[in-house]
Amino acid sequence: MNKKIVLRDDEMPRQWYNVSPDIPNGLQLPLDPETKQPMSAEKLGAVFPMGLLEQEMSMERYIDIPEEVLEILKIWRPSPLVRATNLEKALGTKAKIFFKNESVSPVGSHKANSAVAQAYYNKREGVKRLSTETGAGQWGSALSFATSKFDLECKVYMVRVSFNQKPYRKSMMQTFGASVVASPSTDTQTGRDILAKTPDTPGSLGIAISEALEDASKRDDTKYALGSVLNHVVLHQSIIGLEAKKQLEIAGESADVVIGCCGGGSNFAGLVAAFVPDYLEGKKIKFLGVEPASCPTLTMGKLAYDFGDVAKMTPLLYMYTLGHNFIPPGIHAGGLRYHGMAPIVSALVRENIIAPIKVHQLECFEAGVLFARTEGIIPAPETCHAIRAAIIEATRDLKEEKTIVFNFSGHGLIDMASYDKFYAGELRNYDYPEEEIMKSLSDLPEI
Ligand SMILES: Cc1ncc(COP(=O)(O)O)c(C=O)c1O
Repeated sequence: MNKKIVLRDDEMPRQWYNVSPDIPNGLQLPLDPETKQPMSAEKLGAVFPMGLLEQEMSMERYIDIPEEVLEILKIWRPSPLVRATNLEKALGTKAKIFFKNESVSPVGSHKANSAVAQAYYNKREGVKRLSTETGAGQWGSALSFATSKFDLECKVYMVRVSFNQKPYRKSMMQTFGASVVASPSTDTQTGRDILAKTPDTPGSLGIAISEALEDASKRDDTKYALGSVLNHVVLHQSIIGLEAKKQLEIAGESADVVIGCCGGGSNFAGLVAAFVPDYLEGKKIKFLGVEPASCPTLTMGKLAYDFGDVAKMTPLLYMYTLGHNFIPPGIHAGGLRYHGMAPIVSALVRENIIAPIKVHQLECFEAGVLFARTEGIIPAPETCHAIRAAIIEATRDLKEEKTIVFNFSGHGLIDMASYDKFYAGELRNYDYPEEEIMKSLSDLPEI
């Protein structure tokens, strides 16, 4: 048995798979908050290039990956699918556990898959500069890397709590030539307003998105890039599942359980998408989306039209949401602190194809430490959520033979401060109180 299943460069998928046309009962269109009618391409074109907007709306199942993008993806792709034999042994389970190792990208996570594609389409349409937000710092690093490859400028608004927790993410972004500020910042009106009202705010992805959008809408040379949630991001991440399916076939396996952590939903949907057609044809596959109990978008949120940001600058997206004003506590999985969820993931939950679960941060760090001591890679705090769920699945009945595949979305080598806090006993579990969630849901826009 091979521990790792590795594909050759020429076996890398040359097309992305778009799951949208295969979702039963489809996706609801994004709405213009002013008219409550479907958002026009011209309005969206102010902040996104047409190449990405076409993908956002596309009902084509397969879309070619441009040669220029493939060339850069080849730096680390195809990524290995690894059998977690040592973890299986430590758990004493008969289940086979595989992980798709997305931590091998230059910046340490899956985020680079979409960043390269987004930088490419912007460059192709003459854009000079991109603005973006980052939570954990992984997306900001990924876009900084990708913009350096296409000779674009990059400005990153980094959620303040992560900016303070992860100084080396900032250094990484600077190494790739980006400029980074803590969000809320004094560089935008949105940031200045929020700082005046709540000077001590930890920030949130919703605030950082507003700042990056404001930046892009005020400059002709700049467009905006989002690291998750939108259909085109999920499309770019579909390469993860397409490779994983091929690799499982080579190993003579097929997935019974497919797991990923859920922030905005891109790494999970990217792994899951390729398996959805098999599910729809009758194959029994359990898809588990794992979120933190402190930001329980899928398990406690509402499926409704909502803004993607605090300042109400985005179109209205039909998604599970905790309300655009929801500010989650400063847990150590910054990439999972988002009030909304990808419309594609939301629709798959609505159709009962995906099952969401919530887990607490302490059990996740314990799972991450066990993974590091058995498989040798220190996971990002976000990824620890997927590992925890894989362990729950593998130990539910130790004698049950099944194949579990989870997305190892990123490594945690720049997150050691969080591990330090875990060892020092400074981390607490936190369930977001239901009354608070109800309060923030009361601000949903009326449709
Ligand atoms: C390592 C890692 N995993 C997962 C996520 C969650 O994002 P998404 O749900 O879009 O995959 C992030 C977000 O920053 C991340 O950095």
